[in-house]
Amino acid sequence: MSSSNPLRDAQDRRLPRIAGPSGLVIFGVTGDLSRKKLMPAVYDLANRGLLPPGFSLIGFARREWEDEDFADEVYRAVKEHSRTPFRDEVWQQLSQGMRFVQGDFDDDEAFETLKKTMQELDAAQGTGSNFAFYLSVPPKFFPLVVQQLKKHNLADQKDGSWRRAVIEKPFGHDLASAKDLNEIVHEVFAPDQVFRIDHYLGKETVQNILALRFANTLFEPVWNRSYVDHVQITMAEDIGIGGRAGYYDGIGAARDVIQNHLLQLLALTAMEEPAAFDANALAAEKTKVLGAVRLPKDLAKSTVRAQYAAGWQGGAKAVGYLEEEGIDPKSTTDTYAAVKLEIDNRRWAGVPFYLRTGKRLGRRVTEIAVVFQRAPHSPFDHTATEELGQNALVIRVQPDEGVTLRFGSKVPGTSLEVRDVSMDFAYGESFTESSPEAYERLILDVLLGDANLFPRTEEVELSWKILDPIEQFWAKHGKPAQYESGTWGPVEADDMLARDGRSWRRP
Ligand code: BG6
Repeated sequence: MSSSNPLRDAQDRRLPRIAGPSGLVIFGVTGDLSRKKLMPAVYDLANRGLLPPGFSLIGFARREWEDEDFADEVYRAVKEHSRTPFRDEVWQQLSQGMRFVQGDFDDDEAFETLKKTMQELDAAQGTGSNFAFYLSVPPKFFPLVVQQLKKHNLADQKDGSWRRAVIEKPFGHDLASAKDLNEIVHEVFAPDQVFRIDHYLGKETVQNILALRFANTLFEPVWNRSYVDHVQITMAEDIGIGGRAGYYDGIGAARDVIQNHLLQLLALTAMEEPAAFDANALAAEKTKVLGAVRLPKDLAKSTVRAQYAAGWQGGAKAVGYLEEEGIDPKSTTDTYAAVKLEIDNRRWAGVPFYLRTGKRLGRRVTEIAVVFQRAPHSPFDHTATEELGQNALVIRVQPDEGVTLRFGSKVPGTSLEVRDVSMDFAYGESFTESSPEAYERLILDVLLGDANLFPRTEEVELSWKILDPIEQFWAKHGKPAQYESGTWGPVEADDMLARDGRSWRRP
C-alpha cells in the first residue's frame, strides 16, 4: 500500500544503501580481476557495513580447492588489495559464508553441486535464494556458462527472490557477435536481471560529470556548439600489456577501451539532461546521443592506430609490443588508438570529439577536456594575448581526481599581458571521505538491483556500430604506426589534430 505522503516515500539518497539478504557467485574466481578487484571490493563493502550479516561468496573454478583454500585465497587478495583497513571481526563474519565449487563450465555435476551449495547457504546464512552470478570469464565461455545456468534452473526467481547475471567486458568483438551474445543472455535472463559491467561508470569522477552538468547553472548554458570548440577525451596508461597477451592480442586498444569506457564518457559529456536520475531515463539519453554519433567520411585522416615500440618508461627500459611475451611478432593489434567523432544534433553539430587511448604513454591519466572557442573579439593587442590558450574545463577522472577550469588572467605588472591560469577543485581537498573503488559501487548496485550505472544492450550495440567501420578500415589498410614507449603517442595522431588546426593536450 502506498502512503499518501510523497515526501515520506522519497528515499534519502544520503543514507547508506545496504544490501539485503544475498550472495555472489563468481565464475573465473582464480583470475586476475577476481583477485585484484572483486574479492577486495566484497571485503571493503563488508567493512563499510553495506553487506548483510549472512552475505555469502561462492567461488567456481577448475582448481582442486576446498572451501578453506578458497577462503585463504580471498584472505590474501583482501590483505593485498583492499582499500579499507583490515579488521579481524569483519573477516571472521565474511569468511563464514565462503564456499568453493570445483568444476569445468561444461560439468553438469558441478552445476548441481553449485545449486546445492546455494540452498545450503540459504539455510545456514539466510541468503534468501537471492544470488548474483558474476561471469569473470573469457568471453568464449559466456554462452556456455549462461546456458548451464539455464539448464540447471539457476536463473529462476521463485517466491520473490532474485537472480542476476553480471557480465564483464568485452561484450562481443563487433556488432554481430554482441547481438548474438545478447540473444543468448536474454534467452535465460530478462533485461532487468542483466548487469553489464563498464567499471568506468563506477568511478566517482565519472558520476560527477552528471552532477557537474545538471546540478549547476554555470556550465550548461555554454555546453554546446555556440561556445565549445572541441572536446578531447584521453585515457592514457603508462603500463604495457603485462601478462595479458592472450586477451589483448587481436583485441587492441579501440575494442578494449574505446568501445566501452571512452564512448560512455562521451555519452555522459554530450547527452541531454535525463528526465530523472534513474536507469531508464539515463539509458534513453545515452542511447539517443550514441545514436547521433557520426564517423567522418575519410577514416584515413580521422583515425590513427599504433603500437608501442621499445623505449624508456619510468626510468626503466621497456620492450616494444611485438617483443612482448606471447605476442605474435607480426601482430597488427593497436595499443594506441585515436579517433575523431562528430555528433549529429543541434547541440553539437560541427564540434569534433577527439578520443585517444594508449598503453605505455607518458603517464597514467584519464580526463575529459571541454575546450572553448576563443573570444570573438579582443580589445587587447596581439602581443598581450600571445600566451593565452583557449579556455577549457577539464574533468580529471584519474588519478588526480577533480576539475580544472582554465582561463586567461592579467599578469601582474605595469604592462598588459594575459596568460593562462587555472582554478582547481580536488576531491582530496574538498571532501574528507575517500572515494570507493568502482567495483565496490558496482557490486553493491547489483545486489541492490540498481541499474543506473550499467550500460544497456542498446548502448553496447550502438558503440559497436560506431567502432566496426573503423576496425574494418584498419583491417584493410596497412599496418599500425609506431610510437616510442614513454612518449605521448605516434606523430600521426599529432598530425590528425594539426590538420584541424588543433593540438592534443599534454596532461
Ligand atoms: C580495462 C582494460 O577495462 O581498463 C585494461 O581492459 C585497462 O586494458 C583498464 O588497463 C584500466 O582501468 P583503470 O580503472 O585502471 O583506468
